[in-house]
Amino acid sequence: MPGPEALLALLAAPVLLALALVISGPWRLLDARVPLSLMQELERRQTDLSRLAAAARARDAPALPPGALGCAELHGVAGVSLAGSGITKVVLRAAVSPGGEEIALKAVHWAGSDVSRCLQRYRHQEGCYRLASYKLLKEAVLLQSLDHPGVVKMRGQCYDRRLGLEMNVVTMLELGTPLEMIRLLQTPWEERFKICLELVELLYYLANSPLGSIALLDFQPRQFVIVNGLLKVTDLDDVSTEELPCKADEDCALEFPTKSFAFQCAAHGKCEGINEKRNLFNAYRYFFMYLLPHTAPFTLQPILAGILNATGDLRYGANETLRAFQKVLHLYKSGLYLQKKPSHLKEYIVLKGFRNKDTEDYKCWPSYSHLGCMISVHNAEEAADICSSHPQCHHFIITPRSTWTGRLLTLFQSNLTDLIPGGNMVVYVKRPTASRGFL
Ligand SMILES: Nc1ncnc2c1ncn2[C@@H]1O[C@H](COP(=O)(O)OP(=O)(O)O)[C@@H](O)[C@H]1O
Ligand SMILES: *[C@@H]1O[C@H](CO)[C@@H](O)[C@H](O)[C@H]1NC(C)=O
Ligand SMILES: *[C@@H]1O[C@H](CO)[C@@H](O)[C@H](O)[C@H]1NC(C)=O
Ligand SMILES: *[C@@H]1O[C@H](CO)[C@@H](O)[C@H](O)[C@H]1NC(C)=O
Ligand SMILES: [Mg+2]
Repeated sequence: MPGPEALLALLAAPVLLALALVISGPWRLLDARVPLSLMQELERRQTDLSRLAAAARARDAPALPPGALGCAELHGVAGVSLAGSGITKVVLRAAVSPGGEEIALKAVHWAGSDVSRCLQRYRHQEGCYRLASYKLLKEAVLLQSLDHPGVVKMRGQCYDRRLGLEMNVVTMLELGTPLEMIRLLQTPWEERFKICLELVELLYYLANSPLGSIALLDFQPRQFVIVNGLLKVTDLDDVSTEELPCKADEDCALEFPTKSFAFQCAAHGKCEGINEKRNLFNAYRYFFMYLLPHTAPFTLQPILAGILNATGDLRYGANETLRAFQKVLHLYKSGLYLQKKPSHLKEYIVLKGFRNKDTEDYKCWPSYSHLGCMISVHNAEEAADICSSHPQCHHFIITPRSTWTGRLLTLFQSNLTDLIPGGNMVVYVKRPTASRGFL
């Protein structure tokens, strides 16, 4: 069973200096050869961290929960493998005993571009390592201070100099899976809407967080993971809890590659609202634009276009955006989005007492099942309309499964041999064309 040695091997990092990181420790412990600019950078980060930690303490931020994991558990982990890496951190998955529950371990990524760039510039290993450690520590303080389903849960932490320089700060988190945009693009609209809604709920929380309005400075899909189907932000080292300081309105420009926005410099010398709007535009350009519009229900499309337009032009803040999303959710869940038109349901015969075989049948896209055409519906009427619009559809079965909004997962099929008598399923079979009249 791999222990800490394996962790170190995975990091492929040389154990360099014996000097351990002293958390918030005095800088004189570093040797005198630290380049001045690196020292200044370290001091800046330390100040930033101390201020954040003080703010968290002042509001009695919930510390780690009882039963939090520590160094003892870290020494006993097994089944370690790589979960992901970024420019600053490396993330391993590992099972903690007893029970073997899998968690994520975050440590400084020695071979990452953040540390490499620092080393190239300053040639000071310990200083550079410390610089990166500050990011990890800042993230840990934030993770402990923020309490929201959209923020990855911290399970524990370990500071242990015996683990060697690379691993002496380890954050333990709930384990997720990386957000795969390409795969998400192939899922039904309802699932893509869910991700966007969860993101908006997170941005609403961040805009009104106990630490102030928080901007995610490095906002990208890869900073998010999915835990039990929920979207969660995991990378919190590069955030700002302060609005940009300013003297005049000119200081308050928010620049993106395709667009820039002007903000006002408020009386207290801060660009008011800039953090919230920065997050929103990033949500627009990395998430909403790709995930919201395509294959959305027809009647919701104008509302979604309105949300895209309002976030893309930053006319909406987090509050309005959340309200708009909740409205869409309501229309969708309640079935109010359905177009009022004559129902096709009367063209179907209802047969009771069937079982279904898991066999291949005709496909549709996007489907909840790779074997055939499975779509969520509000009710049998909507299912009948869908079946009538598919040339291959011969019958449909409303399964007992439902989606996160409570909609019914319905299987559309062409082959009656998929049905076996003797179950409790209800099947809606299309009447023969002749009896349906002209269609
Ligand atoms: N809790 C987690 N569970 C699974 N994978 C994770 C978790 N946290 C992060 N990762 C993966 O590790 C990568 C790097 O983590 P991150 O905190 O973003 O580091 P960096 O600051 O270097 O970007 C992420 O892009 C993600 O794919
Ligand atoms: C929003 O709509 C207006 C008017 O149609 C248009 O000029 C603008 O470019 C749109 N903005 C976005 C981000 O789509
Ligand atoms: C958004 O809503 C929250 C909670 O209702 C409120 O405290 C905050 O002031 C609102 N923000 C804006 C910009 O309206
Ligand atoms: C219907 O299913 C049966 C058995 O699974 C299969 O042999 C037959 O080819 C299928 N018919 C069509 C039209 O797919
Ligand atoms: Mg990252």
